[in-house]
Amino acid sequence: MSSQNKRTVVITGGTGGIGYQSAIGIAKTGARVVITGRNQERGEAARRRIVEETGNGDVALVIGDVSSMAGVDALAGALLERFERIDVLVNNAGYLGSEFKRSQDGLEMHFAVNVLAPRRLALGVLPALKAAGNARVLNVTGGDKPARVDADNLQAEKGFKGLMTYTHSKSVMEAMSMSLARELEPEGVSVNVLFPGRASTAMTGAMSAKTLPGVMKIFYPLFKLLFAEDGGKSAAKAARSTIWGATTEKLDGVTGRYFDTNMKERKLHPTGYDTQVQARIMAAIESAQAAR
Ligand SMILES: NC(=O)c1ccc[n+]([C@@H]2O[C@H](COP(=O)([O-])OP(=O)(O)OC[C@H]3O[C@@H](n4cnc5c(N)ncnc54)[C@H](OP(=O)(O)O)[C@@H]3O)[C@@H](O)[C@H]2O)c1
Repeated sequence: MSSQNKRTVVITGGTGGIGYQSAIGIAKTGARVVITGRNQERGEAARRRIVEETGNGDVALVIGDVSSMAGVDALAGALLERFERIDVLVNNAGYLGSEFKRSQDGLEMHFAVNVLAPRRLALGVLPALKAAGNARVLNVTGGDKPARVDADNLQAEKGFKGLMTYTHSKSVMEAMSMSLARELEPEGVSVNVLFPGRASTAMTGAMSAKTLPGVMKIFYPLFKLLFAEDGGKSAAKAARSTIWGATTEKLDGVTGRYFDTNMKERKLHPTGYDTQVQARIMAAIESAQAAR
């Protein structure tokens, strides 16, 4: 197979945590794997470790920060420049913050990274997804079970609640993904949501008591125990659903679905399928993009 014709899997946030373990599992299947992250040094070290561990020399690193629209666009541009085809785009990079923060574009940060960025990146690399034929977009969710979307609280308008704001942003992302699945179906690109499960990573390691809302703070010591450093063991387990999603034939022609940590299809909360809720999310994304 010529280099340009090789099955190519892009994993955002593939230089650490669950994304890194996903990259290892996918590289073992012989696909070309492209990992992205913000830091060149960390990224290059991760790229080298993946090559060593898998024996697959076709692992590339592309640097990009998905917390701003300019960053997403620059990443999309760099990917298009280097790769003619993208068979699978895994939107894995995520954000969990302990205080209200605005992105460079003035958006609530969870909304910027977990909702707007995955959609904008998928549309940004659409020519390469279309070139691959039957390409997949896999959006990595969080927050345990699918939960209700509150369209009046897309950017923590009702108050910032740490972990709850994060999990709500993932529910919003799930609803956005259902809308994106319909939008990209005519282009021959599928969009599905995968839940990895709990893992000790940089994201969970950075959680503080402030991340936990209200009375949940008393459980902080338990959270610290649950997310104690384990040398990538739990991240490798959590990566199973992404590795499966990127490689299984079972997802051929399947779009607009949610799969849990055991790769079982589950229903979203009904608000995730509500087209009026989805329209509110799309309106928030579009107005943010128009205001740039
Ligand atoms: N860990 C869990 O328990 C858990 C549970 C359920 C769902 N999830 C979801 O699974 C995904 C991965 O989680 P994780 O725990 O592995 O996260 P993580 O530890 O934050 O992931 C680190 C990776 O993301 C990159 N990254 C972080 N912020 C970025 C940004 N703004 N732009 C580009 N790259 C960025 C990092 O590289 P640099 O630092 O070099 O940028 C690194 O490659 C997330 O979507 C998360 O919400 C996690």
